[in-house]
Amino acid sequence: MNTPQAGILLPLPALARYLSFSLEPAALPGECLHRLADLVDGQQTVVGLGRALVSALAAEVPGLRSFPALAGPGLELPATPAAVWVWLRGDDRGEILHRARRIAQAMMPAFRLEDSLDAFQYAGGRDLSGYEDGTENPTGDAAASTAIIGPERPGVTGSSFVAVQRWTHDFARFEAMPGAQQDLSIGRRRADNQEIDDAPASAHVKRTAQESFAPAAFVLRRSMPWAEGNRGGLLFVAFATSFDPFEAQLRRMLGIEDGIVDALFKFSRPQSGAYFWCPPMRKGRLDLSALGLATTAQ
Ligand code: HEM
Repeated sequence: MNTPQAGILLPLPALARYLSFSLEPAALPGECLHRLADLVDGQQTVVGLGRALVSALAAEVPGLRSFPALAGPGLELPATPAAVWVWLRGDDRGEILHRARRIAQAMMPAFRLEDSLDAFQYAGGRDLSGYEDGTENPTGDAAASTAIIGPERPGVTGSSFVAVQRWTHDFARFEAMPGAQQDLSIGRRRADNQEIDDAPASAHVKRTAQESFAPAAFVLRRSMPWAEGNRGGLLFVAFATSFDPFEAQLRRMLGIEDGIVDALFKFSRPQSGAYFWCPPMRKGRLDLSALGLATTAQ
């Protein structure tokens, strides 16, 4: 039976690394993907595959599409597709490094490592702005039904779609805002995480309130702070059974329908944006049979 990659549903790890690979021109990716599947347990290592890779294998995953080019008043968001996305979860930086090296090695020569970003937990689950992140995430069975495709879609049961964006914070701009304005831009109080009922419509949690969409737009967020030198931000990650809920939220954040832009953009911008399909596991191994790649379970 197919099961999800367990890392999607587990609590966030202490540390992580995100790898993005591109497909080399005219490469034959099958062998490298088999080697990757041998290294992926779905729990400590979670993998997503991009649309161009799936079509290079002459396969189709219903619902997998490219990250849209979206723009709102004064804002244009980058779409930065990748062939393979790897989320390395762990608690030992050295172990994560060596795992990343093994994976990068296995991916040669068909894939090129384009990006590697280290992430971590901050202050027990806060974004680097100091606000608790993940409060309104579905939990338990609701988390699983939000993020993992069920048996009603037989070809892709146990799999998931993930939206990934690397946001960079402008800490100087954020710190120049009075505390009350910071709270109103999120729509929650940093001190006690209480939602501010009369926050303006631009407040992030008002823009994205999952139940306010029709249909309701639930996603399972598994974002983590990242840092390089003194730069940092949030590696935003949202799993769901389709890209629609994420896209509905993002469109609302951009003010595409009503012209009201999410106040988050006052101090943070995404530098990347990509969509991936996270295959299920079968007998402890990444199941790539939906892509026409035979499973060679031991
Ligand atoms: C710099 C980037 C971002 C930061 C710092 C951030 C931070 C936060 C914080 C602090 C909360 C309130 C606590 C919680 O419920 O988790 C929140 C809620 C939420 N965010 Fe974000 N967020 C970011 C980007 C995004 C993006 C790109 C999306 C989706 C397109 C998104 C979707 C949501 C959703 C759905 C909620 C819960 C809303 C609700 O139902 O109450 N966030 N975010």
